Amino acid sequence: MKKTIRDFDLNNKKVIIRCDFNVPIKEGKIIDDNRIKESLATINYALENGAKLILLSHLGRIKEETDKEKNSLAPVAIRLSELLNKEVKFSHVTHGEELENLVNNLQSGEVLLMENTRYEDVPGKKESGNDPELGAYWASLGEIFINDAFGTAHRAHASNVGIASHLPSGLGFLVEKEVNALEVLKDNNHPFVVILGGSKVQDKIGVIENLVTKADKIMIGGGMAYTFLKAKGINIGKSILDEENIDFCKKILEKYSDKIVLPVDNVVTEEYSNAVPYRTIPVDQINENEMGLDIGEETVKLFSETLENAKMVFWNGPLGVYEFSNFTKGTEKLLEKLVNINAITILGGGDIVAAASKLGYKDKVSHASTGGGVTLEFMEGKELPGVVSIQDK
Ligand code: 3PG
Repeated sequence: MKKTIRDFDLNNKKVIIRCDFNVPIKEGKIIDDNRIKESLATINYALENGAKLILLSHLGRIKEETDKEKNSLAPVAIRLSELLNKEVKFSHVTHGEELENLVNNLQSGEVLLMENTRYEDVPGKKESGNDPELGAYWASLGEIFINDAFGTAHRAHASNVGIASHLPSGLGFLVEKEVNALEVLKDNNHPFVVILGGSKVQDKIGVIENLVTKADKIMIGGGMAYTFLKAKGINIGKSILDEENIDFCKKILEKYSDKIVLPVDNVVTEEYSNAVPYRTIPVDQINENEMGLDIGEETVKLFSETLENAKMVFWNGPLGVYEFSNFTKGTEKLLEKLVNINAITILGGGDIVAAASKLGYKDKVSHASTGGGVTLEFMEGKELPGVVSIQDK
């Protein structure tokens, strides 16, 4: 058992919380603040218990100097301050005097957010490379370390694993909630049905290999279905194809033909656009100049029947291009079905959670994970360094 934030006396202590505030930002505006909201339980608990709070997070990926400005955490400080209804101090730098002064002047019950930890990736990839000096430096700013960044728990970076090796450490409520919710999927609740979408087979190979032995059915939609259809010898026109993984799909289809459920019809169009005509046809009737952008009604029926008696469902990846209104229906209809069956229902991965949130189903499932890549790694059975590095009780 790992220690949690409950195991520490936080009063008047400098507490570093690693959050995952890696939220989508367009032109300085936060598009989806779900991850910030999900961090509030831990932050509020620390503040109510008298901590001097130092929050760390990454945002996006910083490969060169010019990536810094558009990946600043400044908009997050503003949103967090609104949500907490209190001032959030902001350090524009990730090391040095400005940061140290802000930390040393913190009073019990005050919050400081430091600029994007990945600013330290240029030069020298110090954050992502878990540079030992950087981890030790950040740890020197606090007295207790809490990791609440579930979305980043599959990374071994200076701001999670690095700091954890120098301070008394525990998990935050979000990591605890996520791990408990996903652990349920290891129980023997059958039928266990998995729904996989998204565009690339490559990203899901580990998950498919791991889940195909545990699940009773795996329904595949989204762009990745076309590589499976191609592997069956079906002409897919201009639909997205993950050429390198056709053989992988063939093997999975041969070995687990009784488990894999593929689309039987789809909504096709000639351009990747919401502004051109579209039609619904059986999957084997796509013309050379057409591409499939959603599952069709017959597939919705087939997938819904497969869900009917499920006791546990894990869903990763939308079944169509849900950002375009003409190609949302498959994902929407199946979400509607999902929330009306008597089963443990878990959504994992940023896109399906964003789709469910947009379509009004997010709060109706058993658990909607804040994790993207981490959820998939967890489902592959991999250890999460961000969790492993935390002290045991
Ligand atoms: C995520 O959004 O999956 C996490 O914040 C991790 O981000 P990363 O893939 O850039 O490490």
